[in-house]
Amino acid sequence: MIDAGGSATEDQSVRVYVHGGVSGRTREARDLTYAVAAAQVSSSALGAVEAAIMKLEDDPELNAGYGAVLNVAGGLELDAGIADGSTGAVGAVAGIAVRNPIRLARAVLEHTPHVLVTGQGAARLAEELGLAPLEDTTPSQRARWQESLSGKASAGDGFGAPEQVDTVGAVALDERGRLCAGSSTGGVAGQMAGRVGDSPLFGAGFYASRAVAVIGTGVGELFIETLASLRAGHLIECGVAPQQACESTLAMLGERRADAAAGLLALDDEGRVGAAYRGDSWSLAGPEGIMDAVRLELVSRR
Ligand code: GLY
Repeated sequence: MIDAGGSATEDQSVRVYVHGGVSGRTREARDLTYAVAAAQVSSSALGAVEAAIMKLEDDPELNAGYGAVLNVAGGLELDAGIADGSTGAVGAVAGIAVRNPIRLARAVLEHTPHVLVTGQGAARLAEELGLAPLEDTTPSQRARWQESLSGKASAGDGFGAPEQVDTVGAVALDERGRLCAGSSTGGVAGQMAGRVGDSPLFGAGFYASRAVAVIGTGVGELFIETLASLRAGHLIECGVAPQQACESTLAMLGERRADAAAGLLALDDEGRVGAAYRGDSWSLAGPEGIMDAVRLELVSRR
């Protein structure tokens, strides 16, 4: 196990860091090193982020891809975004139901002149690419939704409650110095149909430039209203160390919403990583294995 704030040491062609979503609920730490290993199929930061996130999307325990949460209407509306810091290109999709939304986000980046595609256009692009549709979520997510309908859900089950927030993401730096950030989510439990979170919004849920790659996790409205990923990235571009940048941006988010679980993961062009969160649990992994982030205090509203 390593602490965030460390620097790159191991010989690996692409340095990849992944996370499985912050939570305001105490959960057993999940070993996500499988996603870091899977990323090594590619020598580019872009390919590595896509490969890592596809693995996380296939993990039934994580709220993305197959394990996506249902919205209040019982629908699946997944979001994802990916940014190539070396070119400044961004691709994202919102409100779609495919098994691996990050693949579709990358296709938007590479094969269209657009940044964010939704609805029928996104569905058509997925079909053209032969991407597997997402027909249903896991039995446990369906049971969670049924409980919310029957009124048996616990007190913290309202939209935006710290227990209800998950997203997956990855940042990577390759040997050519290219940085990439990507994010994917099923959304937030209790969200209305049509709601879009921060994960497909550049600057809010993810950010990448030639100097830094950042991803956020937490209730999307908070990240959108503050452009939290951009803020953390800009601090690093101005010379602040990634760990310090994550902590100060998290402190700003805490001033705005003291009870919201939130996390930020950042990687700079020197391979320095930073990770900080507010909440009860957050699983991360990197080239050195399972990783700890600095935990800041979360003020409960109950
Ligand atoms: N961060 C995930 C969402 O708000 O949709």
